[in-house]
Amino acid sequence: MNVAVIGTGYVGLVTGSCFAEFGINVTCVDKDEDKIKRLNEGEIPIYEPGLEEVVRRNRNAGRLHFTTDVRSAVQSSLVIFIAVPTPPQPDGSTDLSYVDQVAKTIGEHLNGYKVVVTKSTVPVKTTHRVKRIIDEAIAASGRERFRCSVASNPEFLREGSAVEDFMRPDRVVVGAEDPEAIAILRDLYKPLNLIEVPLIITSIPTAELIKYASNAFLATKISFINEIANLSEEVGADVHQVAKAMGLDGRIGRKFLHAGPGYGGSCFPKDTLSLVQFSREFGVEQRIVSAVVAVNEDQRNRMVLKIERLVGELEGKQIGVLGLSYKPNTDDVRDSPAIDIVQKLQDRGAKIKCFDPEAMDNAKRLLKDVQFCENAYDVAEGSDGLVLATEWNEFRKLDLDRVRELLAEPVIVDLRNVYEPAEMERQGFRYTGVGR
Ligand code: UDX
Repeated sequence: MNVAVIGTGYVGLVTGSCFAEFGINVTCVDKDEDKIKRLNEGEIPIYEPGLEEVVRRNRNAGRLHFTTDVRSAVQSSLVIFIAVPTPPQPDGSTDLSYVDQVAKTIGEHLNGYKVVVTKSTVPVKTTHRVKRIIDEAIAASGRERFRCSVASNPEFLREGSAVEDFMRPDRVVVGAEDPEAIAILRDLYKPLNLIEVPLIITSIPTAELIKYASNAFLATKISFINEIANLSEEVGADVHQVAKAMGLDGRIGRKFLHAGPGYGGSCFPKDTLSLVQFSREFGVEQRIVSAVVAVNEDQRNRMVLKIERLVGELEGKQIGVLGLSYKPNTDDVRDSPAIDIVQKLQDRGAKIKCFDPEAMDNAKRLLKDVQFCENAYDVAEGSDGLVLATEWNEFRKLDLDRVRELLAEPVIVDLRNVYEPAEMERQGFRYTGVGR
């Protein structure tokens, strides 16, 4: 079976490479010539553990191809995944122009039966819209003798473990209504039968909604525990223990109950806003998710106040920030709380030194007047306070004696609750975590 994946961003590249790993012949398409050229030279444009190896292995085996030629990719494939960007617009709704454009192109080049699958996270009903656009393009180009089916196959990949998530998912969701398309997609995911991955076949809108409901629920857990953390601080409770005890109740589960600066990244912020927005278009208010979004925005401001409380007046102070990506093991800084907090500190007159193991290049595009350092100790040197913003492993085992000696003031604000408060105080730091 030949598969085309249109869009070689995060999702498209992981999806295409991992299907090739299943033994399928995959063509990844992008209009960015430079990116395709680099991919053809074996260069991976994103930092994702394990991905480079998968790409190399499958290119060498002749199963994975990169091209800008969308026409030939469409014409030689039975299944076409749409994995182009769906950026948020200023009002939080989703910009579908790239999806629409790809749908039109597919219709214009159709040369036989195809299954077109939306992989990008798209508002509910978008896959049906894709079908309409393809059908219009088929009619406009006189290709009515060809037929195409659509399906929704949302991704649940976490950055930093995307390859593993693809190869060993908790579940695969396929929204499709045409039996032929369902059979083809079942066949595509057959390698996962071996490890008994549940394949959930639903209607198209159900599959589209599963993605939003899943992400919104996880975001809800995070905002929920962050509000409990804020309360913990006022009543002298330890949110860490609260979350641990809550999580032991099997109905609640312990994951996604880590208090911190709030969620970031390319999915949760965008998907929660989009859900709120498109639900309104259907006349249904998502009051819980709206609150989740507001709590998340507030949490970042609270973190700045927390820093100010420990450091004092921020004007003219030098603050060291460890970690810039929105979470560890990724170079992604999209909607990163760390970036936002740096900018808010600057607005209050603080001078910033910072370091991130992987995300510095991306951060340099967003941050101005910041001193980028070589490592955590350079950041600490002469700073009036050290903020741990992203919990990279290398920040968990810092030489704390050295850090204390380098700091101008022995202040650590641990936004990820990596360190134990009592231990930090014993070591002579003025320390605060979140909700402890
Ligand atoms: C998420 C979903 O997990 C994935 O299924 C979906 O397809 C895309 O969005 P990702 O954005 O890569 O994946 O990261 P994830 O590990 O889920 O973390 C998202 C954000 O939540 C990060 O900013 C993280 O720091 C934050 N988070 C997570 C918390 O603040 N507390 C937690 O307990 C868990």
